[in-house]
Amino acid sequence: MAHFLTRVLKALCESPLRILLLFFVVLFRSCQYVCVRVLRAERRKSVSGETVLITGASRGIGRCLALEFAKHGADTIVLWGRDEEKLSSVKKEVEDIGTSRCHYYRCDVGDREQVYRTIQKVQEDVGTITILVNNAGVVHGGTLLETKDDKIEETLRVNTLSHFWTTKSVLPSMLARGRGHVVGIASTLGLFALPGVSDYVTSKFSLVGFYESLAAELREQGHRDVGVTCVCPGHTTTDMFKDLTTQPFSLTPQQVAEQTIEAVKTNQRRVILPRVMHLTWILKSWLPGSWMRNVLYVTGAMKDMDNFCAKR
Ligand SMILES: NC(=O)c1ccc[n+]([C@@H]2O[C@H](COP(=O)([O-])OP(=O)(O)OC[C@H]3O[C@@H](n4cnc5c(N)ncnc54)[C@H](OP(=O)(O)O)[C@@H]3O)[C@@H](O)[C@H]2O)c1
Repeated sequence: MAHFLTRVLKALCESPLRILLLFFVVLFRSCQYVCVRVLRAERRKSVSGETVLITGASRGIGRCLALEFAKHGADTIVLWGRDEEKLSSVKKEVEDIGTSRCHYYRCDVGDREQVYRTIQKVQEDVGTITILVNNAGVVHGGTLLETKDDKIEETLRVNTLSHFWTTKSVLPSMLARGRGHVVGIASTLGLFALPGVSDYVTSKFSLVGFYESLAAELREQGHRDVGVTCVCPGHTTTDMFKDLTTQPFSLTPQQVAEQTIEAVKTNQRRVILPRVMHLTWILKSWLPGSWMRNVLYVTGAMKDMDNFCAKR
C-alpha cells in the first residue's frame, strides 16, 4: 500500500498534465451523467401492463428481478431456468404480490434449439414478450490452462450466445409494435479484467459489445421506441461468487434488480453498479496498466479473485 501511494505521489509530481486531464474527464463525465439523468427523468416509462421474460430467474438476481417487476405492476412475468422446484417457488412468490400473472418454463439457454422451441411455446401460451431480460449466467473459475474446453464453451454459450438467440426471437414483434425493451445483465468484468476467469471475462466483454452494437443498429434503423440496456454490476451477494469475500462495495441482488428496473424506465443504455465503479472505468482509460493492477491490489479485488479460484 505504502509503495503504491509513493508511486502515485511520484507520478503526480512527474505528470501534472495527465492528472489535470483526468480531473477534467471526471468532471465532464459527472456533469454528463447529471444532465442525462435529468433529461431522461422527464421521459420515464412505466413497466405496468408489460409481459416480461427473465432468463435465470430461479434464484439470485433473476429472482429479485421477477419480484421487482411484479411490484412495479408488470402484467405477466415469464421465468426461465433449469431448476423447476426453484422456479415454481419464485412463481408463488410473484403471485403472492398479487399484481402479475406468472409462468415458468424449463429451458437451458445454452442450447439454441431449446431456446427457439421454448420462445415459440411462450408466445403461443402467453403472447408477445415486451421486455426481455437476459440474465442467466455461469462462472467456473481457473486460469486459461486449468479450464477445460467444455467449460469454456459452456460459459460462452450460456453467458453470451444465448443473448443472440433470445433477442433474435423477440425483437421482430417488438419492432412490429414499435415498443419493447431488451436488457442484458453483463458485469463490471465486461469493462475490466481480473485474472483467473478469462472465459467469464470474455463472455461479459462480448455482451458489452453486443448491446452497444444492438443499440446502434436500432438507432440507425429508426427504431427509437425499442430500448436497449446493458447492466454491469460489480460483486453481488448471490450463489455465483459466494466464495468471494464480501467487499465494501458489494451489492445485494435486490439493489441490482431495483437499478435495472429504474434503467428500463429511464431508458438508460449502460448502467455500471455500484456507481463508484464508473471511476475505475475512467481510471482504466487514463492510468498506465501497472497502476490499474495496483488499484485492483489495493481494493482487494485481485486477492479475492485468487481466493475464489483456489476454492473452485
Ligand atoms: N453475482 C455476481 O457477483 C454478479 C456480478 C455481475 C454480474 N453477474 C451476472 O448476473 C447474472 C445473474 O447472476 P447471479 O449472481 O444471480 O447468479 P446465480 O445466483 O448463480 O443465478 C444464476 C441463474 O442463471 C441460471 N442459469 C445458469 N445456467 C443456465 C442455463 N444453462 N440455462 C438456463 N438458466 C441458467 C440459473 O438457473 P438454474 O440453476 O435453474 O439453471 C440461475 O437462475 C449472471 O449473468 C451473472 O454473470 C453476477
